[in-house]
Amino acid sequence: MSKVALVTGAGQGIGSAIAKRLAHDGFAVALVDLTEENTKNTAAAIKAAGGTSISLAADVSDRQAVFAAVDQTVSQLGDLNVVVNNAGVAPTTPIDEVTPEQLEKVTMINTGGVVWGIQAAHAAMKQLGHGGKIINAASQAGEVGNPNLTVYGSTKFAIRGITQTTARELAVDDITVNAYAPGIVRTPMMMDIAHEVGKNAGKDDEWGMQTFAKDITLGRLSEPEDVANAVGFLASPDSDYITGQTITVDGGMVFH
Ligand SMILES: NC(=O)c1ccc[n+]([C@@H]2O[C@H](COP(=O)([O-])OP(=O)(O)OC[C@H]3O[C@@H](n4cnc5c(N)ncnc54)[C@H](O)[C@@H]3O)[C@@H](O)[C@H]2O)c1
Repeated sequence: MSKVALVTGAGQGIGSAIAKRLAHDGFAVALVDLTEENTKNTAAAIKAAGGTSISLAADVSDRQAVFAAVDQTVSQLGDLNVVVNNAGVAPTTPIDEVTPEQLEKVTMINTGGVVWGIQAAHAAMKQLGHGGKIINAASQAGEVGNPNLTVYGSTKFAIRGITQTTARELAVDDITVNAYAPGIVRTPMMMDIAHEVGKNAGKDDEWGMQTFAKDITLGRLSEPEDVANAVGFLASPDSDYITGQTITVDGGMVFH
């Protein structure tokens, strides 16, 4: 029987590339997004390549919905080995404009969604009687401060902490917890950020993108597949001796 992975935010961008990569690597994949409809392109691509997926609707900020998606995955696909907590939102938030509603909403999706995903994965893997791998979406904006991203950056710094903490808590159950920190990836999310940052400065989208892209050592923006390659590694046995780490996949923007 194939191994089973669940990917949140699998409808587009990085989550879609991760789901396709894991299906290519032999996983049966549960595609989770706000609606099942959102996942139809990813599901079609996986099917066309001979892979297996199911589509599930869940808002990751809703703990019960995340637990239900994990339960559905186990009942429909028979197992759970890898959970990728990828879904996230990235509104542009100049410091003087941050509102309580925005702070709460983004935190509940980006940080809460990862906490619920880890809880649900842990419960399911314990019940199944085996370990597994949990992989969380951080960001280079969770490693250094980025202008206009106070709220988003705070959630992504938090993901690295949650990853380290739960790696220590779940090792006893043979579960590793790691994260990936993308740089500037060509996805709808990044296009929106570039647009807003450009607009706030009275400039165009290209200017907005260049404020983020100019420091990339490898001299090009990231494609979603660049990130999926690293997640494929974190989901594979080759990463068995790695836990609590955040792997930076940013073409050389942040060096440690
Ligand atoms: N694009 C980048 O440059 C970049 C850089 C660093 C980190 N990231 C992180 O990578 C992850 C994916 O980013 P992306 O660029 O592919 O984003 P995207 O906006 O292109 O896609 C996100 C997907 O998640 C889904 N989603 C949003 N809110 C959800 C919710 N509450 N519940 C379930 N699904 C939800 C959306 O419907 C969409 O399909 C995010 O966590 C993001 O913060 C992206």
